[in-house]
Amino acid sequence: MITVALPKGGLLKDSIRIFQSIGLDFSVFLDSGTRQLQIPDTTGKALGLLVRAQDVPVYVEYGQAQLGIVGYDVIREKKPKVAQLVDLGFGYCRMSVAVKADSPYSTPLDLPAHGRVASKYVNCTRDYFQSLDLPVEIIPLSGSVELGPITGMSEAIVDIVSTGRTLKENGLIEIETLYESTARLVAHPLSYRLNRDNLSDYINKVRDFALLTTAS
Ligand code: PRP
Repeated sequence: MITVALPKGGLLKDSIRIFQSIGLDFSVFLDSGTRQLQIPDTTGKALGLLVRAQDVPVYVEYGQAQLGIVGYDVIREKKPKVAQLVDLGFGYCRMSVAVKADSPYSTPLDLPAHGRVASKYVNCTRDYFQSLDLPVEIIPLSGSVELGPITGMSEAIVDIVSTGRTLKENGLIEIETLYESTARLVAHPLSYRLNRDNLSDYINKVRDFALLTTAS
């Protein structure tokens, strides 16, 4: 029996659809009435774990789940020791630097040295500003980072932009895109290498399905 880690939140529905396409049904997780975090799929061939999106690579790295679905943004931030296998095409977003629309900054290089940047993605933020050789103070937040510039706590933010609605409704604009992100199928490296539980069968089926859906 294999175990798969599924991300709570925006990627859950499409993740469940992916596993359904290869015969593993975890749709019970979409039932708002359930509080169960670990369920067998309806065929009894696999076990599903419902975890915070940021924690998917943790379960996969430690081998508690052989497969997982997680955003590339989380992989970039956490740098987990997992095998990245398939770009699933859904869950598009980008990591951007944003500032108040009425600020004087039109590129990140306009930001003042030692200015403040708020983010949930402190590693990505540090790597990016180091690559510019621009020293900034990073303010770690857990959410609602748009409030950084609005309240005057920070000059800028580094955050995920999907539809762009949150930025717009809070009077912020993007001034740079760091990278783009989509959902990825990841695997526990050793299980993948040794092909435990015929993991490659599942992976190949997911890859075929992803190719079909991204081509259409
Ligand atoms: C994410 C991100 C932005 C928003 C972007 O936040 O941090 O705030 O989504 O989406 P949009 O471009 O479609 O508006 P999330 O919903 O995860 O909430 P959080 O800020 O509480 O983490």
